[in-house]
Amino acid sequence: MKTEEYKRRFPTSGKLYEEARKYLPAGVNSTARAVWSGWEPYPLFVANGKGSRVTDADGNEFIDYLLGLGPMLLGHRPEAVTKAVVRHISEVGTVFALASELDHTAAKKICEIIPSVDQVRFLNSGTEAVLYALRLARAYTGRKKIVRFEGMYHGFADTVYWNKHPSAKAVDAQGGGIPEPQGPGVPEGIKDTLLICRWNDPGALTQLVEANHEDIAAIITEPIMCNTGCILPKPGYLEAMRALSQKYGILLIFDEVITGFRVALSGAQGLYHIDPDLSVFAKGLGGGYPVAALGGKREIMRLVDTGEVSLAGTYSGNGIALSATSAALDYLRTPGLYDTLGARSRKLREGIDRLWRRSSIPAYAVGAGAAFQVWFADRPITHYREAAAYADSTLFRMWWEEMLFRGVLFHPHYFENLFVSTAHTEEDIDTTLSKAEESIAAIEKRLS
Ligand SMILES: Cc1ncc(COP(=O)(O)O)c(C=O)c1O
Repeated sequence: MKTEEYKRRFPTSGKLYEEARKYLPAGVNSTARAVWSGWEPYPLFVANGKGSRVTDADGNEFIDYLLGLGPMLLGHRPEAVTKAVVRHISEVGTVFALASELDHTAAKKICEIIPSVDQVRFLNSGTEAVLYALRLARAYTGRKKIVRFEGMYHGFADTVYWNKHPSAKAVDAQGGGIPEPQGPGVPEGIKDTLLICRWNDPGALTQLVEANHEDIAAIITEPIMCNTGCILPKPGYLEAMRALSQKYGILLIFDEVITGFRVALSGAQGLYHIDPDLSVFAKGLGGGYPVAALGGKREIMRLVDTGEVSLAGTYSGNGIALSATSAALDYLRTPGLYDTLGARSRKLREGIDRLWRRSSIPAYAVGAGAAFQVWFADRPITHYREAAAYADSTLFRMWWEEMLFRGVLFHPHYFENLFVSTAHTEEDIDTTLSKAEESIAAIEKRLS
């Protein structure tokens, strides 16, 4: 690790971090920003962002592929969204506890874009939306258990904050997952409501479901695993999951917090042509403002319609979130936008992939649409256990710091993703590729 160089390049962040630690645990407001999530020796402090660029507290400018861990799909301070929000807060207001026309006009846009969604309820974060999706699934089916997959993250609620990145101990003799809380403080009793499965393995899922189907309310999955680097579903896997869930009356929940509106306008479900029962959207939705949506089939949402299931929230559907969402979705529906975003993302991902494959280090890039990650591994990574066993985090760290020192920013942890925004230009992509070439040469030199 080039700690001294980091300190030399980013001294103001170091000073701010010392101050921040006095008042904020770990000096930050979320785990993913903390030192132990990869931001060693201390997190970078931001001054501002504009479009595809971020400037840190020392005035260093970066091409930004962190993008707030996803929400800045339109880049920083996207004009159309900023204007809509500023107009709304200065001319309308933010919270009324009354219905407004904007509630249903924004909802209608999601229903028009996502074929599986007949109705939506707006919420404030992905965590909330997942929590409610699970409640709704349990209420609808009258069953208690949820199948979740190793390596995925569905928010920090007690009910699902399990087996995100489980230990080697959380496997039984047959290779099945044993529920393991992601940390202390999560109530032990919740384990009886969870079934843990290996992803991308239709046989493992079939076995688990066939043995437990009478108790299973829902299978929740990210349609592309974006919380253990980036792992694509094997051909036919999501289809098998859909068929199995339908066979046993189990709801299929797609957690599209990351993939929604990003890997395609209609999300991963549009990309792979799968029709889930419930879907959760968040990061791609609001042009950088805090908003989430739980959407699904009318027959299931009926329980919310009648009041049998309560989905509440003082700030749910607030004016900031909805004016942002409405403007962001209008922008995302600009003809040709996803063609350009897709082409630039592909050029970057394939370019980085080519550069690494040409190098002496085994590494390759995997992704879909505007999200991808580089795996430092000598074999394909298809699920969490393979990532934990075969992917090299030390090489990833070298890659991260060489790119950072050359003005390219992404998250330092190899289990996160690089995101491309609609604000990234052709020139940004070309510059990034040339920085990647230099970085790879520098790493080869460091290793030789
Ligand atoms: C797939 C997925 N689901 C849910 C969440 C939780 O969303 P939030 O951070 O908005 O609560 C995340 C956050 O990273 C996520 O990646």
